[in-house]
Amino acid sequence: MKIAMVGSGYVGLVSGACFADFGHDVVCIDKDQSKIDRLHDGVMPIYEPGLDALVESNVAAGRLSFTTDLAEGIAGAQAIFIAVGTPSRRGDGHADLSFVHAVAREVGEKLANDAVVVTKSTVPVGTGDEVERIIAETGCNHRVAVVSNPEFLREGAAIADFKRPDRIVIGTEDDFGREVMREVYRPLFLNESPILFVSRRSAELIKYAANAFLATKITFINEIADLCEKVGANVQDVSRGIGMDNRIGPKFLHAGPGYGGSCFPKDTLALLKTAEDYDSPIRIVEAVAKVNESRKRAMGRKVIDALGGPEAARGKKVALLGLTFKPNTDDMRDSPAIAIAQALGDAGVNVAGYDPEGMEQAAPLMPEVQMCKSPYEAIEGADAIAIVTEWDAFRALDFPRVKALANAPVLVDLRNIYKPDHMLAAGFTYLSIGRS
Ligand code: UDX
Repeated sequence: MKIAMVGSGYVGLVSGACFADFGHDVVCIDKDQSKIDRLHDGVMPIYEPGLDALVESNVAAGRLSFTTDLAEGIAGAQAIFIAVGTPSRRGDGHADLSFVHAVAREVGEKLANDAVVVTKSTVPVGTGDEVERIIAETGCNHRVAVVSNPEFLREGAAIADFKRPDRIVIGTEDDFGREVMREVYRPLFLNESPILFVSRRSAELIKYAANAFLATKITFINEIADLCEKVGANVQDVSRGIGMDNRIGPKFLHAGPGYGGSCFPKDTLALLKTAEDYDSPIRIVEAVAKVNESRKRAMGRKVIDALGGPEAARGKKVALLGLTFKPNTDDMRDSPAIAIAQALGDAGVNVAGYDPEGMEQAAPLMPEVQMCKSPYEAIEGADAIAIVTEWDAFRALDFPRVKALANAPVLVDLRNIYKPDHMLAAGFTYLSIGRS
């Protein structure tokens, strides 16, 4: 089957490469000529483990190609995926659908055969109706079914998530749409990944509801962690204790500096905007978004406290280890490290930073941070070290070396990757999350 993927960003490129790996004939389309040129040269626009090898092997097998020409890319495709960005619109948090609408119009104008148009971008409820209307408006006289197929892949684990999903959600009430989507996902269907057929509006809402629920779970355990610190409990034990209840489940109960990334912050705000538009407030998610925002700066205050408070902190140096919003990505979007560095900078603290993959993306977002080439360079002369992202590279730091380099052996572990008794035995003043 021929598949066209319009938008070769994170979701488009991973999905396109995986569909090609299943044996489909895939064309990834993007307006950005330099991105397409680099893809032709085998250079990935994003860091995702395993993606370069997957792209290379499928290009070599002749199943994956790249173009900036939409008409050429969609010619003969039975499924045309829209996987362009839906950033938060400035000012109101609503998802900006201008890219999705522009693609729908161009597809309608240039379509030369019957096709299923699939929105994979995260789009608010009702966007499928809009896409259908826009395509109809272009006077397109081919049979078109507009389907919603939200993507749940996580950065850093995107290929595994795509190939072994918990579920595949297909939103359509159209027989042609259902038939083509079954064919698209047949290889996964054979792997016994469950396919859930629902209405288009339900599919659109499933994506937002899933992300908002996960953001709520994280925010819940983060607030429980704060309480643990006050009452002398251990949040990891509490997470385990509640996670063993099958109704709750153990995942997404790791307390930390607050969630970031390309999805949770943006999608919670977009869901709230939809809720407001339909006069059906979701107060839990309102609280989650507010609590998470304030938590990131609060983590900066936690580091300042470790330096002895605002007075003592002025002029001191902090090493931030890990800048990306989570490990195994170079993505800095809404990373807690940005707010933490700002809070430290505002308090007159000098900040040095290191990240295994995110330095290039981080530098323009954190002008106050001195970027270093290794964790040890950042630690040199530091009065406190803060682990912000749980990269494997920080899980086995050379403690004698750290102590020799640092000005003071103070470690603020915002991801709980070390054990308090080990750190005390190693001679550190050690602060973590939800463990007194
Ligand atoms: C998320 C969803 O998981 C995915 O299904 C959706 O398609 C896109 O958004 P992603 O943003 O890649 O994926 O990362 P994820 O692993 O979910 O982590 C999101 C944020 O939550 C990170 O900042 C992470 O550090 C934080 N987090 C996650 C926690 O603080 N605690 C946890 O227990 C889990």
